[in-house]
Order: sequence, then structure tokens, then C-alpha cells
Amino acid sequence: MEFIGRLHPLLVHLPIGILLLVVLFEWLPARKPYKSLRRSIRFILWLGFLSALLSGITGFLLKQNGDYESQAVKLHQFAGISLTLITGVYAWARGQKQLKAIYKFLSVLMLILIIATGHLGGTLTHGENFLFVSASQAEADLAQIDLQQAHFYNDLVKPILENKCYSCHGSGKQKGKLRLDAPEYILKGGKGGLVLIAGRTDESELIHRVLLPLEDEDHMPPKEKAQLTQAEAEILKLWIASGADFEKSILESNQLAAIQKILSGNKTQYIAEVPEGNPGAANPKVINDLKRLGAVVLPVANASNYLSVNLVNITVLDSAVDLLVQLKQQVVWLKAGDLPLNDSHLDKLSQLVQLTRLNLERTSVTNAGLSHLNSLHQLQYLNLNQTKISANGLRSLNGLKNLQSLFIYGTAVSVKDLTSLQHVFPNTKIEIGNYVVPILKTDTTLVK
Ligand code: HEC
Repeated sequence: MEFIGRLHPLLVHLPIGILLLVVLFEWLPARKPYKSLRRSIRFILWLGFLSALLSGITGFLLKQNGDYESQAVKLHQFAGISLTLITGVYAWARGQKQLKAIYKFLSVLMLILIIATGHLGGTLTHGENFLFVSASQAEADLAQIDLQQAHFYNDLVKPILENKCYSCHGSGKQKGKLRLDAPEYILKGGKGGLVLIAGRTDESELIHRVLLPLEDEDHMPPKEKAQLTQAEAEILKLWIASGADFEKSILESNQLAAIQKILSGNKTQYIAEVPEGNPGAANPKVINDLKRLGAVVLPVANASNYLSVNLVNITVLDSAVDLLVQLKQQVVWLKAGDLPLNDSHLDKLSQLVQLTRLNLERTSVTNAGLSHLNSLHQLQYLNLNQTKISANGLRSLNGLKNLQSLFIYGTAVSVKDLTSLQHVFPNTKIEIGNYVVPILKTDTTLVK
């Protein structure tokens, strides 16, 4: 029922289009070549009437599920019902020759009502994504974020509040006298006082209400509205628990691992943990040179000497690879996808023996180059999606005993190859499109 209601904003375009056509036909000169069009007016009017009726029904269902400013809804509803009635009268009158004199009058009246209903309806709409935002969409949006560069509030928290709270706590409405659309409003609180106390999730109304059971009348968002996904609620909670800072990045808040864990559905796979130990500081000049070439170089955690490097915007790949080799003790995560990276580059990169995560998707690597990676014994995550590699190439990686996740979507590896690959990588989750190869051994240990 709720879904049918949500079709309303889409369906209303039918009567608008159909009935505007009637107005046009009615006002076209009553001679050739238009004369024949007039004969269809009555039929089109009945179509318009039916579609208006359908719109009305969906609109009614939508109203049942929503929280709409009642005055505006009443006006819109009144205009919509009048429009439907007038359309019906007009359709009937169009069959009565003796009423010919009022055809044009009815068409103008109908036009006015179309405009009024449409305009009043427009003011009730709820943001562009109203129809399609679903839980999986929200998860997908979250998964798109580059966590190593993301800002905790701006990139994670704010979009959640925007999608799920602004409609009632934003510039338009301030339910409970609360606005959540800017830090100063969030800090100001609502009619019950402060809603956010940094570090105290139990005393922060902002998260307390979200975590209340759905049936509780204080639960937020109200139960007929789109709810936070589990991950969204956990992120909000983590943000408040870790100090509710509006400025810091995720790295600065030291919450990278925790967020990765939330986003991976609290499974422990794919989480290349920050390595312990200290490799010593990297040469700052090398880091600067690398940054100048367009690389993003960041510590994997606050005050850690281990580095994560993202080459996505790199300009001169050869030089970047040479610089990376000089950071071989520090670089643990390397993102080198979507680059013309080839086998000789891989030969050099094989010196980065500390690597735990390596992303090579959509690069030019081949089976021959792949064998160089066999020296990367720490590797836990390897992404080779959409490369030219095949099962034979992968077999040469039998030295990667710590590999947990291997991504090979869109490669020459076929589902048939998987059984044999399973024996080469007994502890690895191999992802090949819709098919996930189960881990062979049951005593898989989680790498800390
Ligand atoms: C459909 C409208 C609607 C949405 C969406 C909504 N709220 Fe509310 N919210 C209300 C209403 C109505 C009240 C006042 C009810 C009350 O005082 O119990 C309220 C009150 C609150 C209060 C208490 C304010 C105070 O000081 O009394 C908090 C905190 C809150 N909402 C948080 C949120 C959060 C966080 C979200 C998003 C995750 C959210 N709300 C989404 C309607 C909404």
C-alpha cells in the first residue's frame, strides 16, 4: 500500500499530460487539418478522468502514510477532487450537442484546476529522491565513500541526517523545535533541550531516539518514515561516542577500522587491520614528490608511520612507481586501479613487501606480471577485477598465504576454474561476480 502511495508523484503526470492535450485540441481552429482531432476529445477526456481518479486514489494512500502539513494537503486534495469532477462533467458534456457553447469554458476551468492542483502538489514534495531511496541505495552510497579521505561529519553523518531527518528537522519544518541541518542548530538542541552530548550516546537524545524500538512513540524517524539502516544508526552512534566532532576526518578521529567494520556488515572479512610495529618515518621529500605527481598519501592511522597511497590521479606513472619503491617499508595499502600499470611496474612494486591491500582493478597487468606479486607475503586483499589475468596466472600466487579476499570480476577466470583455485587459496574468499567461492577450510583464523 505504501509503495502504491509513493507512485502518486509519478502518476499525477498522466492526467496533466492527457488533459492538456484536450485543452489544446479544444482551442485548435475547427477546420482542416485539425477538425478530425476534435472527434477524439471526448475519448481523451475519459482517459484523463480515469487517470485523475487513479492519481486521487494513490494520493489518498500516500496521505495515510505520510506526515504532511495538513492545510497544504487539504488545499491540494480539494483542487484535485474538483479537477476530477470537472473532468467528468466535461467528458459527459462533450457528448451533448446542445452544450456546445460551454465546451471552451469547461476547458479553461479544467486548465486552471490542473495548474492549481499541480502547483499545490509541487509544494508538498519531499526532495528529489523520494520515490527511489531504499535501504540498499543508502548502503551503496555509503560504500562509495573513500574512507581514507572522508570527513566524519560531512561525508558520513550529514548525508544520513539529510536523507532521514531534514524533512522534519530542516529549514522547512522544525518538529520538536529542532533543526539538524547545520552544526550550530544540532548543538542548540530542540524543545527538550540539548540533543547532543559529545561522547555520551546514552544522554544524547539524537541517538537515543533513533535506537528506541520502532513501536516507541518517541522513536525517530517516526515509524511510517524511511528508517535508518543498521549501518547508518551505528555510524551516528559511533560519531557521538567518539566525540561528535564536526571538523575531523575519519583518520583523525581514529575510527577507520570501526567504520570499515560497520560498513562490511560487522563481518571481519576484508578488514586489513592497521599493522602493529613501527617501520620508522618515511622520507618526507619522497612523500612530497609523490603528492606532487597527484598521489594521495596518508597515514593509515593517527600518528602511524604506515602509509596508504592512492594513485588514482597520478600524472607520471613511471616516476610514481619509482618513488613508491623508496617507501617500501611504509606503504601498506596501495590503490593503483584504473591506471596503465603494466607488468614491469608490478616487478618494481613487488618490493613493497609490507603491502596488505593492493588494488589493481582495470590495469594492464597480465599473468606474466602477476607472478611478481608472489613475494608480497603480507597481502590480505587483492583486487584484480577487469584485468587480463586468468586462472593460470593466479596459480602462480601460491605464496600469498595471508590472502583473505581476492576479487576477479570480469577477468578470464571462469566459474569452472574455481574448484582448482580453491586448492591454491584454501583460506581466501574469491569473488567472481555473482558467485562467491566459499572458503574451504572451516578453521579460518581472522588476521588481526
Ligand atoms: C516525519 C517527521 C520526522 C522525521 C523524518 C524525523 N523526526 Fe524527529 N521529531 C519529529 C516530531 C514530530 C518530533 C516532536 C515529537 C516529540 O516531541 O516527541 C520530533 C522530535 C525529535 C527530537 C526531540 C527534540 C526535542 O528537543 O524535543 C529529536 C532528538 C529528533 N526528533 C531526532 C530526529 C532524528 C535524529 C531524525 C532522523 C534520523 C528525525 N528526528 C527524523 C518528527 C520527525
